[in-house]
Amino acid sequence: MIPQQVIEEIKYRNDLEEVIAQYVTLKRAGSNLVGCCPFHSEKTPSFTVFSQTKSFYCFGCGAGGDVVSFVMRTENLDYVEAIRFLAKRAGIEIEEEERDNRTGVKRERILAMNRDAARFFHENLKTSPEAQAYLAKRGLSTALVKHFGIGYAPNDFQALTKHLTAKGYRPDEMKAAFLCSISQKNGRSYDIFRNRIMFPVIDVKGDIVAFGGRTIGQDQNEAKYINSSDTPVFNKRRNLFALNFAKSECAEQLILCEGYMDVVALHGAGFTNAVASCGTALTPDQARLMKRYTKSVIISFDADEAGQRAADKAFGLLGDAGLETRLLKVEDAKDPDEYIKKFGKEGFSRLLNRSRSRFDFKFSGILAKYDITRPEERVKAASEAADFLSRIWSEVERDVYARQVADKLEIPLDSLKNDVKRKIAKRDKEEKKERNREVIRATEGYGDRVNPDRLKHLGAASAEDTVLGILTLYPELIPETVETVGLTEEDFVTAFNRRVYGKMVALGSGFDTALLGEDFTQEEISRIVQNTVSRQGLTQNGMTVIAECAAKLRQGRVRQSLSLEDLIASKRIKKQD
Ligand code: UTP
Ligand code: MN
Repeated sequence: MIPQQVIEEIKYRNDLEEVIAQYVTLKRAGSNLVGCCPFHSEKTPSFTVFSQTKSFYCFGCGAGGDVVSFVMRTENLDYVEAIRFLAKRAGIEIEEEERDNRTGVKRERILAMNRDAARFFHENLKTSPEAQAYLAKRGLSTALVKHFGIGYAPNDFQALTKHLTAKGYRPDEMKAAFLCSISQKNGRSYDIFRNRIMFPVIDVKGDIVAFGGRTIGQDQNEAKYINSSDTPVFNKRRNLFALNFAKSECAEQLILCEGYMDVVALHGAGFTNAVASCGTALTPDQARLMKRYTKSVIISFDADEAGQRAADKAFGLLGDAGLETRLLKVEDAKDPDEYIKKFGKEGFSRLLNRSRSRFDFKFSGILAKYDITRPEERVKAASEAADFLSRIWSEVERDVYARQVADKLEIPLDSLKNDVKRKIAKRDKEEKKERNREVIRATEGYGDRVNPDRLKHLGAASAEDTVLGILTLYPELIPETVETVGLTEEDFVTAFNRRVYGKMVALGSGFDTALLGEDFTQEEISRIVQNTVSRQGLTQNGMTVIAECAAKLRQGRVRQSLSLEDLIASKRIKKQD
């Protein structure tokens, strides 16, 4: 745990405006700054930085927080990593015991265990003829196996468990590392990975954070792959297999594959800029991670329909992250791995050169569909192309493609561009409407994921929000609220707000949004900051408002504690009046 004072110091020494200005172009608007939100696509700025409260909030997408949350989001870091990042930026040294909150197991311990496990798997290859035969059949050379640290998990329920136990690791630690399971029935530990070729997943710092294991057995009921699920050192949505190797080779271009085997084969053939996601569909976090290392991505997925569908999704995500994206089409082979086996690295180079933008794919699809020698079909083709063009984010890109479409369809460029503009404006308007609807839904509590109780208790919840908003802005009022006003956690009706207030009570006047990252999600922190936004212009005395809200909450509590009989009785009395 990093001490509270250190976190405060880190927050103090990293000026929010300065940090944000490195990512977003900000313009002054009164006492605040505004810019285009880095967390959703927009053209008119709704991302606001509040200089006084050192917080940010986007009125478009609802993202909010302080300098710590900002860095967590943009640099794609977890809480502790973000604190470290900012400490480094400000030249502050931090010492701490790294113990995972949930499992109580130290991160260092898990990383060491992963290293030991990887070594164990790698050693086991030497004594397993089946595994060696399998790797040979798949064309993996000894050098490649060594480079990737590939290994073999024996067909045995306790091989690794015994090995790690002998090295002094406890069952709860092995479980936290997703290496062993503990049986419900007899409490014994057993290996999760059995009879599998093991691919270590190594993060960009060089730590082994997870494993992917491909079965070499014939049993159809066995999963083909088992992947580490999330552990204190691994989040599968935020890691990419082989990025540790690719990161220094991919400044211009990264190749994104679906499978471990594809990546290994590509690296073997000299394409050392290939990565894959670790057993998940591509996530926005992974797209942002790629953005940190490269300008453009070539999607190189399997040739089957599922692969192509996944590619279409990946296109969207990568584009949203601001990456130039192209698609490579594997033909006459099921995946890049097989392609290289069949056509060699020259063959794959040719595929890379033939990779096309999403536009090329779409446009050739449109051209195939219509007979553009006929005017009415040409109009339809133009309209579809305009629709597609209107979804391209970059204006430069849009212009380049618009020219191609206009040339090909022999229509005036200007009228095509006008069509595109109209479509963009129309969709912007619709999106804005939808966002407004969402905000209304959220504030009324419909589908409110952060505070689901809100809808049932609108009055109480808004009193709670007011209290929390004021206390977030003025934590120095927390002790008085607790001691003099006597507001307790039990006075809170909605569970989420009660949890926030609990944290305030625990931290007292030292409360700071920078301390929330460990216990609250970004979405929850955004809500806490949202509560402060409408209270910033508060002209009344904060304490008076808090006292009024507290009284309101307590009244509600009294009412709730009345029994049903009491209620019926009180109604009767009213009727008689
Ligand atoms: P593939 O089935 O294409 O596997 O799945 P592959 O890596 O190309 O392996 P080979 O060539 O068939 O031996 C692509 C990726 O999807 C994930 C893995 O990350 C795999 O590399 N996957 C697949 C799973 O997580 N679980 C599965 O059961 C199957
Ligand atoms: Mn494959």
